[in-house]
Amino acid sequence: MVRSGVVVADIGTDHAYLPSYLVMSGKIPRAIACDLRQMPLENARETVERYNISDKIELRLSDGLDAVKPNEVQDIIIAGMGGTLTAQILERAQWLKDSGIRLILQPMTHAEDVRAFLCENGFEILKESACEDEGRVYISICAEFTGCKKKYPAGYEFYGELDRTDDLSQRFVKKQYVRIKKRADSLRAAGIKEDEAEYCEAACNGIERFLERE
Ligand SMILES: C[S@@+](CC[C@H](N)C(=O)[O-])C[C@H]1O[C@@H](n2cnc3c(N)ncnc32)[C@H](O)[C@@H]1O
Repeated sequence: MVRSGVVVADIGTDHAYLPSYLVMSGKIPRAIACDLRQMPLENARETVERYNISDKIELRLSDGLDAVKPNEVQDIIIAGMGGTLTAQILERAQWLKDSGIRLILQPMTHAEDVRAFLCENGFEILKESACEDEGRVYISICAEFTGCKKKYPAGYEFYGELDRTDDLSQRFVKKQYVRIKKRADSLRAAGIKEDEAEYCEAACNGIERFLERE
């Protein structure tokens, strides 16, 4: 999902494996690799020194995008964090609405928080994909600000632009369905949080349509 030839910011880079791969494969010329903590940045330093690419990957201590300036980068990656934290990081950086910025997001949990943030703030999801590693399905979301004010169907935040004909996407969304259905059922059984129960039920109906594949 990263565009060729752009400068990338990798937020929460840890070992800087992803920006290192992008630079070494020739896909991008440079990257800014950021992390909240010093220890991961030391891991990142080891990686870029080992591969002799310290001149192409700048390491920065940064809470989210705080240490990245508008106009420094074109593509921004936030991978391997929870969806709630990912959405909070995006919310703090209003300049992401500048034209030409692309977001590549790989939330580990609560991807619905990321999609809800994007949809409510004028970002459009251009593409999503699912992949599997050691039995676990991971998803990536590619988005850009377009100012779009589309009305999305109920449950959209649980499947977004995943390909309904793809088995891994189906597996991922089915897992979300089970989680939300369980939540709805337990709220109904306890007779509490009527609004949330209604929200979960409407989402389940929407997700069922996605899972029908047609
Ligand atoms: C599980 S690692 C993910 C590493 C890599 N991005 C990947 O996908 O494999 C999460 C990293 O995010 C960093 N992190 C957590 N909160 C952060 C924040 N607010 N800003 C920047 N980095 C953060 C952690 O220090 C950690 O190194």
